[in-house]
Amino acid sequence: MTPENLTAFIEGRRDQHLAELSEFLRIPSISAKSEHKPDIERGARWVADHLRAAGFKTVQIVPTNLHPLVYAESLEAPRQPTILFYGHYDVQPPEPLEIWTSPAFEPTVRDGNLFGRGTADDKGQVHIHIKALESLQKVNGKLPINVKVLIEGEEEVGSVSLWDYVQKNKEKLKADALVVSDTSMLGKGVPSITYGLRGLNYYQIELTGPERDLHSGVYGGAVPNPLTILTELFARLHDKNFRVGVPGFYNQVAKLSKGERKALNALPWEKKDFEKAVGAPGYCGEKGFTTVERLWTRPTLELNGIWGGYQGEGAKTVIPSKAFAKFSTRLVPHQDPQKIAQLVEKHIRKLLPKTVRCKFDVLSTGKPWAAPYHHPIFQKAQAALEKGFGKKAVFIREGGSIPFVTQMYDTFKVPCVLIGFGLPDENAHAPDEHIALENYFGGIKAIAHFYSALATR
Ligand code: BES
Ligand code: MN
Ligand code: MN
Repeated sequence: MTPENLTAFIEGRRDQHLAELSEFLRIPSISAKSEHKPDIERGARWVADHLRAAGFKTVQIVPTNLHPLVYAESLEAPRQPTILFYGHYDVQPPEPLEIWTSPAFEPTVRDGNLFGRGTADDKGQVHIHIKALESLQKVNGKLPINVKVLIEGEEEVGSVSLWDYVQKNKEKLKADALVVSDTSMLGKGVPSITYGLRGLNYYQIELTGPERDLHSGVYGGAVPNPLTILTELFARLHDKNFRVGVPGFYNQVAKLSKGERKALNALPWEKKDFEKAVGAPGYCGEKGFTTVERLWTRPTLELNGIWGGYQGEGAKTVIPSKAFAKFSTRLVPHQDPQKIAQLVEKHIRKLLPKTVRCKFDVLSTGKPWAAPYHHPIFQKAQAALEKGFGKKAVFIREGGSIPFVTQMYDTFKVPCVLIGFGLPDENAHAPDEHIALENYFGGIKAIAHFYSALATR
């Protein structure tokens, strides 16, 4: 096989690849909603069928406590390295539906982009690997390296069942490297390899004041209002410099080395692209740090949702019995998620007045990750990205979280190569999610060359 053969094979199948990805995207495999359980099952079957079609002889759909995961392996390259590829076939809920230009589960091409839920996060990127592997298999007759594949259906709800599977299948999952495509490129035309992610703790609190809703005229002025207390609480969790007010929150935060700080700030990252993607009237963040440092290397506390009381049409004069909030902390090395959860709960209980009761729940925790990238596999990834995109890849960190990456890194201490083909402004988790077709097609070529370069001749 020559590289030209492989490239020509992949180029000649663009329409087929796109049509097949569209079929995958039409399955509304929304992991958060139980009514979509049948679609989740369908998503898992679709992945399994297409791995089989790509040449994998061992393909399993593994049931878990929540959503099934798909495992496949091809171990037919003696003395060659083994990689584990990880991705997820579940997607975020599509709401609010009315904002989508074309329906979330009817993939549509506009201006060189493919629109639909899951295009960038993560079905489009999973499909890049399936097609790269299939192309290698078809052009070569067999895969040049040993490949294990793990595609889960719970990533968007915190990968709860996965940890248990990893613990029980350590031997099976063992590999020389982990490869993931579930991140972004720094910007258009800038292929990127991610070597750091933030961790995530997710919380929910419920405040109860009066034991039932009250007429605000009859009782107002002499009773606690849990909604007011909740908003006062959140107003006190940050200071004027946007620092989180939880005592001890920053104690374990690793200080950036001079060299890393310099390298991250020298990246071709464009503030104007960032501001265009956000579209806010103004910007803010922790004092003393650049935007890139704030996004990738600093911990945060964010309010994600707040509710309670009356929200319907017209007016209802009521003092609600309860008020609720969902919020989260993004974590960076070397913060310990358990420790942070304790500190947050302690601080919140201390701030709250005795006039309300508080139920505090930690819904999920995930560790931060950042690792060196001097293993030779990173240079091979860089070279392969150059083949697919005609440009040298940069090394970046990102602010999002992928629980499995940290689990794998901690368990096996293997290099984790995160090659993202999304873009920061492609609306992951939001209406009009899309992927640039040039990155999807370029991705298949780059990944095929990457896997083929991992074979030692
Ligand atoms: N693919 C994202 C993670 C991501 C996004 C990494 C952007 C790097 C850049 C993943 O699907 C995701 O959304 N993860 C969740 C965490 C999960 C525990 C719900 C996240 O980061 O909020
Ligand atoms: Mn993802
Ligand atoms: Mn996601």
